[in-house]
Amino acid sequence: MFEYLGRKFLQQLPSELAHDLSIKLLGSPLSFIACQKTIENPVELFGLKFINPVGLAAGFDKNADAVSGLSKFGFGFLEFGTVTPKPQPGNPKPRLFRLPKNQAIINRMGFNNKGVDYLVKQLKKNRPDAVLGINIGKNKDTPNESAVEDYLYCFDKVCLLADYVTINISSPNTADLRQLQETERLSQLLLKLKKAQSDNQKKHNKCTPILVKIAPDQDKQSTISIAEIVKNSGMDGIICTNTTVSRESLLDESDIEQTGGLSGKPVLLKSNEVIRVVRSTVGPDFPIIGVGGILTEEDAMSKIHAGANLLQIYTGLIYKGPELIKNINKRILSEKN
Ligand SMILES: Cc1cc2nc3c(=O)[nH]c(=O)nc-3n(C[C@H](O)[C@H](O)[C@H](O)COP(=O)(O)O)c2cc1C
Repeated sequence: MFEYLGRKFLQQLPSELAHDLSIKLLGSPLSFIACQKTIENPVELFGLKFINPVGLAAGFDKNADAVSGLSKFGFGFLEFGTVTPKPQPGNPKPRLFRLPKNQAIINRMGFNNKGVDYLVKQLKKNRPDAVLGINIGKNKDTPNESAVEDYLYCFDKVCLLADYVTINISSPNTADLRQLQETERLSQLLLKLKKAQSDNQKKHNKCTPILVKIAPDQDKQSTISIAEIVKNSGMDGIICTNTTVSRESLLDESDIEQTGGLSGKPVLLKSNEVIRVVRSTVGPDFPIIGVGGILTEEDAMSKIHAGANLLQIYTGLIYKGPELIKNINKRILSEKN
């Protein structure tokens, strides 16, 4: 009830103010309001035990400022970030737009974050009970030619803390970032990250799984090529997908022409198609996290049927609230039995 009223109130505020307020509330002692029973629906993947397969997608809490509240939502895993080596302000405001008729969001945040050191400090103070993912990126002023240095820098800072690390090369809001998905650049980047992973394992006896988060907008052949490179480089999984730059089949409402990444309902089918292509490329055993457009239990099931092992939500949490996590888990359990 409190949660429902709170959500209705936040929906009346400008989008980014509502988001910042939610993060403050969820990081405060008032976060008990968010408390929901965690549904047990265990999944084991890349050596990790997930209490259930529904996770928080990256970007909701870029700096791990709201760990205490988010831990009470009943997620099976939480992904924080994207963080970059240095703090950066992101793009000028306004940069976050709700599209309620479309159950969607457009954002061009541009990796606004307080830097990797801040995130590490936050998570050392307050580590969630659920599986912990940390999503890393490059600073805006780092050219693609030296992007690998940024990823290695962040990987080194977070790999002992994180249960898994996500390499974000698919945000549409950092100029040319998606060029890192191209064959040669991607192979070079993942080769170096693989070496960092095994060096870390030798030194600390911990092999932190590395996942690569990809876009929904490249053509089928490019998706196949990316999936092959990710698997052949020895990475541990693929996250499909980030937001889309497409504006196909949107219902007319204000802000649909805003520049940025579109998330929510309109990205569901596009994202699911990427999951299908990736699954048929990597075979039945390679881990895939499905994200993009889950607003109902049916949407969640459609991703599992497309080939996802785990799910993440962001926009669905904004429109449907944390109940969605419970409802998805219940549906998955009922289809299992
Ligand atoms: C406001 C906003 C900020 C985001 N920031 C990030 C980010 O920093 N890193 C990232 O990998 N994905 C980011 N995403 C993408 C989400 O993690 C997710 O991949 C995408 O929104 C599709 O899922 P959804 O339809 O459930 O929102 C962001 C999404 C939104 C709406």
